[in-house]
Amino acid sequence: MVIKRKMNTLTICLTLALAGMVSGCNDDDDDVENTSISEVKDADYYQKKAKEIAAKMSVDEKMNMLMGPGMDMGNGVPQVINLKNDVSGVSGYINGVKNDKLDIPATKLADGPAGLRINSTRDGDSGTYYATAWPIGSLLASSWDTRLVAEVGKAMGEEIKEYGVDMILAPGMNIQRNPLNGRNFEYYSEDPLLSGRIAAAMVDGVESNQVGTTIKHYVANNSETNRNSIDTIISARAMREIYLRGFQIAVDESQPWAVMSSYNKINGTYVNERRDLLTDILRNEWDFKGVVMSDWFAGTPESTAWKQYKAGNDLIEPGGQIEFLKASYSKGEITEAEMTVNVEHILAQVFQSPSYNNYAASNKPDLVQHRALARQAAAESMVLLKNDNQALPLAPSLKLASFGVSQIETIKGGTGSGQVNNESTTMLAEGLQQQYSVDESLTAFYRDYYANNKVEHPGFVAAIGTYFTCDDPLLDASVIESAAQNNDAALITIGRIAGEGFDRTNTRGDYLLTENELGMIQSTADAFHAVGKKVVVVLNVSAIVDTTEWADKVDAILLSYLPGQEAGHAITDVLSGAVNPAGKLAQTIPQYYADVPSADTFPGKDLNGDGQPDEIAYNDDIYVGYRYYSTFSKPVAWPFGYGLSYTTFNYDSPRVESSTLDQGAKGAVTLSVSVTNTGSVAGKEAAQVYISAPEVKLKKPTFELKSFDKTGELQPGGSQKLTFTVPAKILASFDPQKNQWIVEPGTYKAWVAPSSDLNGREPVTFNVSQEIVVSNTTPGALALPAGVNSTDFITVSQ
Ligand code: BGC
Repeated sequence: MVIKRKMNTLTICLTLALAGMVSGCNDDDDDVENTSISEVKDADYYQKKAKEIAAKMSVDEKMNMLMGPGMDMGNGVPQVINLKNDVSGVSGYINGVKNDKLDIPATKLADGPAGLRINSTRDGDSGTYYATAWPIGSLLASSWDTRLVAEVGKAMGEEIKEYGVDMILAPGMNIQRNPLNGRNFEYYSEDPLLSGRIAAAMVDGVESNQVGTTIKHYVANNSETNRNSIDTIISARAMREIYLRGFQIAVDESQPWAVMSSYNKINGTYVNERRDLLTDILRNEWDFKGVVMSDWFAGTPESTAWKQYKAGNDLIEPGGQIEFLKASYSKGEITEAEMTVNVEHILAQVFQSPSYNNYAASNKPDLVQHRALARQAAAESMVLLKNDNQALPLAPSLKLASFGVSQIETIKGGTGSGQVNNESTTMLAEGLQQQYSVDESLTAFYRDYYANNKVEHPGFVAAIGTYFTCDDPLLDASVIESAAQNNDAALITIGRIAGEGFDRTNTRGDYLLTENELGMIQSTADAFHAVGKKVVVVLNVSAIVDTTEWADKVDAILLSYLPGQEAGHAITDVLSGAVNPAGKLAQTIPQYYADVPSADTFPGKDLNGDGQPDEIAYNDDIYVGYRYYSTFSKPVAWPFGYGLSYTTFNYDSPRVESSTLDQGAKGAVTLSVSVTNTGSVAGKEAAQVYISAPEVKLKKPTFELKSFDKTGELQPGGSQKLTFTVPAKILASFDPQKNQWIVEPGTYKAWVAPSSDLNGREPVTFNVSQEIVVSNTTPGALALPAGVNSTDFITVSQ
């Protein structure tokens, strides 16, 4: 399914190392000889080596490794221990070690989810270090295509490696619980299976270059407002089934190098101080072998850093508070033996890094090939929401009137740590001009209007946060009417940016369209429809916006999200039909924001009257996204999993191929379907398996996504059989009374379907004869705060 699987056999390199014939494998007593990265991928090898080397480190060296060196916050560049070949613009480092015996170079950590974030220029250096700005996470996930995501990851990893960085602080994979989370753009989906599988593909792709990934932000960090101290109140079942599940799948399927613990508290305690989350669950239950690092400046590092280490947070970033750790050690709050465990986790990954292996970065990644891949990935993943009477594609021979300022300042990605310093971004106006004849006077008007009316916003951190917005003007009716006379179709682009540090709001100009945008849609639709011409809307948005107010006024809607640096080309490729859109929604678009089950509790409650929320109660429990809308029969604007194509597909003979569920926890059920392209152009189709489980002890969502796969490109008339294996562990639900993952007995219904709208589709069935206990989990983990009962805050239940 993905490019790389972790090897579990020792390679030649290890054999040679054990035989004392090391050449090209690092050996710390006489290292720095190495010129290539070791091929060894066996975790046991690195763990053993980590123990050996940690035993040779002084307690000071250990403390320095656990505490990042700090960050330049206007107080000077941090002194990084044993830094070789620094890369300007990285977000952090892991200190190295340098003494007579050991030479472990510092490790370089850089953001982020939409591509490598480093500075594109360096003082005293005429070279450039541009990275590719890839489509945002929400768009990549809409591909439902793990092969494509792994390919993007592989290319991203090449840039990481060839620019001399060791690990990337990505992918971000928090659940899109509420459409107003300001960082949803970095994340994949409202569904944990989709999030987990897409993340695993990204991890495998990036790490196939022998550089590391960091899945983040672990966990239940689903809003930005007051993110550094907000307390998330949440049931153990919702944690297990929704918020942890994606991380569990990613660890299980791809063993990333690192996990980043999140800013928030859970049930009263900072995540990075929770031993149940960082050690009992992540390491002991899931067998995670990598490093756990804090988010930047998370928690209370000054005097209580020791609590984080003891809980299993191995590395504090960006650090710079070593004196506090030293004081804690002197006071006996943490022992050397305890810190050694953290050091060993770090070393086991550091040994695999390019820096440790003296990899000579070329600074020449294949940006040309990556540009092409970014364009393809963006175009293929876009979601065609509406296409009445085949309004799209628009033949390139047509003349287009393009409305909206977002064609001028097309948004490539979000702001904050997820932004990328790429060489150039293609605006939609430019992309259109290359494939169409466009109404130049209209485009020129918008160009001038944007230049004169854009408003700069400070964003999160000036250097990575500043952004511009510009409300659309209302044009005179005569201008629009003449555009309708002189052109063949209208295109309207609506733009929304978002970024780290802020949530969005359910207001005009944000989740809701502005009066001017609504006016632009109305008057354009009136004028163009009056002369029998089509109107198409492109949503160049960081996350979903309301469509209910205006969708019926236009002929077609393309959700392009923020497509990365190839935005203009990729959107035009879909409009013209050069690429058949094959994306499907990875999040539900509700009819109204008020329908979102967490609408009343987002972004939390202000308990101390300082105007900031202190606590956010997850009142929707396990009923997030489509789990809520389908279980409680709430109509939605566009369902999860939905997306149109320029062709049509038939799903023939869905069936249960086999079941080994009677074998218990290791069993699985296998389903299949044959997908046929019944239309007239080639296309790809993402098929989804939804399963409805019997309710014995546990209430459950009506159905849940349990598998998916995508066809290759099917020519008209072409078919492909897709096979889906659903293991018991994926089928299971969490029983909080017994701390167990269980598969309940009874008849299961399964649909293999093009979206979560299962109306009119017949399920196939299979039986489970007796309860399967898939696994026992840590008793008492994730308990609610003392005195709080689930009935106190859960408002959505059956
Ligand atoms: C973000 C992380 C990011 C880190 C380093 C934090 O503010 O939450 O996602 O990786 O900064 O830039």
